[in-house]
Order: sequence, then C-alpha cells, then structure tokens
Amino acid sequence: MQCYLADGQGIDSISLSHRAAPAILNDRDVLVEVKACSLNYRDLMIAKGTYSAHDSSAPFIPLSDMAGEVKAVGSKVSALKPGDRVLNHPFRHWPAGTLNSQWARTFVGCMGMDGVLAEQIVYPADALIVIPDYLSYVEASTFTIAGLTAWAAVVTHGRIRPGNWVLLQGTGGVSIFAAQLAHAMGAKTIMTTSCAEKAEYVKKNIGVTATVIYQDPDWHKQVKQITQGAGVDVVVDVVGGETLSLSLQTCSYGARVAVIGVLSGQNTTLRIRDLLAHQVALRGIYMESAAELRAFVCAVEALKIKPSVDKVFSFSQVREAYRHLESQKHIGKVVIAF
Ligand SMILES: NC(=O)c1ccc[n+]([C@@H]2O[C@H](COP(=O)([O-])OP(=O)(O)OC[C@H]3O[C@@H](n4cnc5c(N)ncnc54)[C@H](OP(=O)(O)O)[C@@H]3O)[C@@H](O)[C@H]2O)c1
Repeated sequence: MQCYLADGQGIDSISLSHRAAPAILNDRDVLVEVKACSLNYRDLMIAKGTYSAHDSSAPFIPLSDMAGEVKAVGSKVSALKPGDRVLNHPFRHWPAGTLNSQWARTFVGCMGMDGVLAEQIVYPADALIVIPDYLSYVEASTFTIAGLTAWAAVVTHGRIRPGNWVLLQGTGGVSIFAAQLAHAMGAKTIMTTSCAEKAEYVKKNIGVTATVIYQDPDWHKQVKQITQGAGVDVVVDVVGGETLSLSLQTCSYGARVAVIGVLSGQNTTLRIRDLLAHQVALRGIYMESAAELRAFVCAVEALKIKPSVDKVFSFSQVREAYRHLESQKHIGKVVIAF
C-alpha cells in the first residue's frame, strides 16, 4: 500500500513510500481504508522535529486524524462491520477517564507510533467511532484532535452555559471548532485574529460575536470592554507564552481557562493575583478520552454542526497541505482527501 513517511527533518523530507498492507492480528482490531486525513499544528512540529524530546529520526507514518471505511473486523468486534464509516481517536488506547503514562504512549503519528497517512490502517475497534450520516469523510476527519480539544475546553472542563462569554484565540482548527460549539450552546464569543479580513470572515460565516486584532498590545483591555467590564467566563488559550498572562486579565469571577497551545512559546510569567482575586480555574488540556470523543460526536450531530474546512488537498499534495497550514492563511481545518 502507499503511505507517507516523515523523519522530523522538515516538510521537504516527507515522502511517498510503500509498505506491506496491514493485517488484523488482534481479535479486537479493525482494518480501515482511509478516505481523508486532517492536519493539526502539532503535525508541523512533528515534521520539523520540535514536538517532543522523544522525537526520533526513524521514518514513521505521520498524522493522527482520519476518517475512513471499515473493510474487515477481528473476530471479537461486534460494534462495527465492513462498510461502516468511522473516525478515529488519536490514541490507540485511552478509553475513558484520566490519561496515564501507558496510554499516553499510544498517541499516533509520532514518538515511534505510526500515524494514519496511509491507504489502510489497522486500529482498535474501541478507538473508532461511527460518523453521523450528514457528514462527509473530509468533514469527519477534523474531529479527532481539533474537535475533541475544543469540546474538552468548552464543555468538559469549560462547563459553558448559555449567555456566557468565551474568548478564542486565532482562526485555526481548535478555535473555530470551539466557536461553533459555543454558539450552538447559546454563548457569545470574542475571537482574536491577526487580520481584518479574517475578522470579517468569522463574524459573517462562523457567527463570532466580536473580534479583536491581537497585534494591538491592549487587545486584552478591548476584550474586557466588549463584555462591559465583566470579563469572559471561558478562555480557550491556544497561544501560551506571555499571551496567557494577558488572557487571565480578561477573566470574569469564576472563569475557566483552558491552557491548550504554545503558538507563542512554552514559558510565561503569571501574576498570581489575576488567578486568585477572580477565583479563576486554570486547566491544562491534552485532548480527552474516547468516551468524550463519542459524547462530542453525539453533541455535534444533535446540534448539526458542520466543521469549517478551509482547503482540501489530494493524496499527491501532502507537502502542499503542510505548507498551507504553515502559512497560517487558513481559517479552520486543512484536509487531505484520498
Ligand atoms: N493540548 C491539546 O490537546 C492540543 C490540541 C490541539 C492543538 N493544540 C495546540 O493548540 C495550538 C493551535 O492548534 P491548531 O491545530 O488549532 O492550530 P492552527 O490550525 O495551525 O491555527 C493556528 C492559528 O493561530 C493563530 N495564531 C498564530 N499565532 C498566534 C498568536 N501569537 N496569537 C494569537 N493567535 C495566533 C493564527 O490565526 P490568525 O491568523 O487568525 O491569527 C493561526 O492561523 C497549537 O499550539 C497546538 O499545538 C493543543
């Protein structure tokens, strides 16, 4: 079968290759024909060897998010059958509850664990979820990391309520999904972005309530003004670095802050008073379990949310897809369709 291999040496070293087609060796596994894969910021870091201290230069199949068709199932699989349309959880094993070190090693697409950018994969049945009928493979492939992380930030840990204000940063995959969820659940959103065109787009097409350009050093004060001085109830912080300390200054009493990303760096200086005076809960997010992904898919179906797909590339345009994500010209998700 055809697949791509990466080695952490940069986007240009990602190359098309051949491997023997995978076979079902475990009774609880499923053979899936991959139809679409979506990209995440993490995949850029992995391609460049900057994601983890455990990155290795041994070639591996990249990407963690896919949607595909079940071709065969192991003898102990009863929940899925050939022909079913499925999407995957990014960990081969994280069934429910809190992550542990054993399950953490099963995150696919890096650190010695092959990913999903291949014509076929074999995956545990428990880590596959049936795709709602109204969604295409391209749309469903965006749920695995971006959708699940948005769900964790806004719902599982954000405990959003109708009428809440939610702060979102940038127009990337996680933030756009979080905006869609927040609106569907009756919340109001403020999104930071780098340019006026993207600001107009998200107000018109995603329903974002207000936007702020984050190059303005007083962007956090603008956020506070938009909420009439009350502050936001939920922050989806995908930026990290010194932006996180400014995010805290936008908070209302009892706000929940999801610490998700490192777009502007791993290190930050926090003013403790911003946390305690407003009784702010700061929570590190590292996706969620397969049980939560099931709950998310169920909610998305009930709310009829359609993922925002920016651009679809073909299987022969994998490097172009990575380059497009790297350019940060996208809004929402970048997908490769097979
Ligand atoms: N912890 C987890 O479970 C988890 C899961 C998923 C993602 N993440 C992390 O979350 C971050 C976003 O991931 P993603 O896949 O959604 O990224 P993405 O789709 O590549 O989106 C990146 C967007 O963020 C905006 N941005 C870039 N630098 C910024 C800055 N300094 N301030 C504000 N916005 C900025 C840009 O949008 P504009 O042009 O609109 O500004 C850019 O297009 C990454 O750090 C990623 O590693 C973590």
